[in-house]
Amino acid sequence: MTDFQQHIQLIREEVNRELANLPIPENPKYLYDPVRYSLQGVGKRFRPILVHLTGRALDANSDGLANLALAVELLHTFTLIHDDIMDNDDTRHGLPTLHKKWDESTAVLAGDAIFVLAQLKVTLIETHATEIMNYFNKITLEICEGQAWDKEFENDLTISEESYLKMIDCKTGALLGSCAALPAIMEGLNDTTVQSLDQFGRQLGRGFQLQDDLLELISSPEEMGKSLGSDLAEGKQTYPVILARTQFEKEWNELTSHFQSNLNGESLEAVKIFLNDSGIAQQTINKYESYFNEAQNALHIIPTEKRHDLESLINLIQKRTY
Ligand code: IPE
Ligand code: IPE
Ligand code: MG
Ligand code: MG
Repeated sequence: MTDFQQHIQLIREEVNRELANLPIPENPKYLYDPVRYSLQGVGKRFRPILVHLTGRALDANSDGLANLALAVELLHTFTLIHDDIMDNDDTRHGLPTLHKKWDESTAVLAGDAIFVLAQLKVTLIETHATEIMNYFNKITLEICEGQAWDKEFENDLTISEESYLKMIDCKTGALLGSCAALPAIMEGLNDTTVQSLDQFGRQLGRGFQLQDDLLELISSPEEMGKSLGSDLAEGKQTYPVILARTQFEKEWNELTSHFQSNLNGESLEAVKIFLNDSGIAQQTINKYESYFNEAQNALHIIPTEKRHDLESLINLIQKRTY
């Protein structure tokens, strides 16, 4: 194992331990059983890792970083619970989603509670507390806006690449931006530094979401640990879909016309083959590589000798298969 791998392994273990140690009461079971179930899910923990690595590069206070790291992971967990209801997805982290294991009312409430747990972590941060809370709540609202665009765009065949980018910058980029910016805010660094780090995280977020869009179509549910195909079933305007319907309108319409009533393994396989043969998969890869390069470039704000782990994290995400 490299030093970097060891380092992120330690961060993952710490985050998992802290999530397991959150004081979650036994009752009411209607609320806390699904909360516990959700917190035991095995996420990749990229967001708390980003908080810790950015914070370390800035020599930020370690207790503050631990609280920030938990706060962003809890916020992320909450958004996934509600997202799975909104996207009609059955599996997450290799397990039934909350609304499938219980029902939608249970899942909405568990999500609400986990958001409050995130807020409670933020309130433990004493330095620049108001600025941190303000930023955290602003990006949470931005995520809600992104999720709203995502829903409004469903089945809208006029959605452009520009609108798509606006949507993903909100639903995914805002949180990754905050993982890099919040440690700087906590340390009272100047606005230019905070904004540059935010931009770094948002470029990473663009790369990450384009990758997710493609993996949803060409990977397998076993590898990803989540149900795939819902993007097509729900008419999501994802990056590869926008490319396919603008560059190969006729072929794409023929391939997908029956999807909303009858999406199965065979039709998903046909889409996978089409995306590979048409070059859409490669175009998507080229595009997300360009955003990962932008993220690398945006790291200039961090002194060269402190950038190494963040560069390794970009490389790790770039190579992810799930
Ligand atoms: C899923 O994020 C949501 C997106 C922004 C695509 P991750 O793929 O990081 O999910 P976990 O944390 O590993 O569950
Ligand atoms: C990612 O949503 C953003 C949020 C959850 C806020 P997606 O719907 O694209 O992600 P997956 O594919 O369900 O993980
Ligand atoms: Mg989803
Ligand atoms: Mg979604």
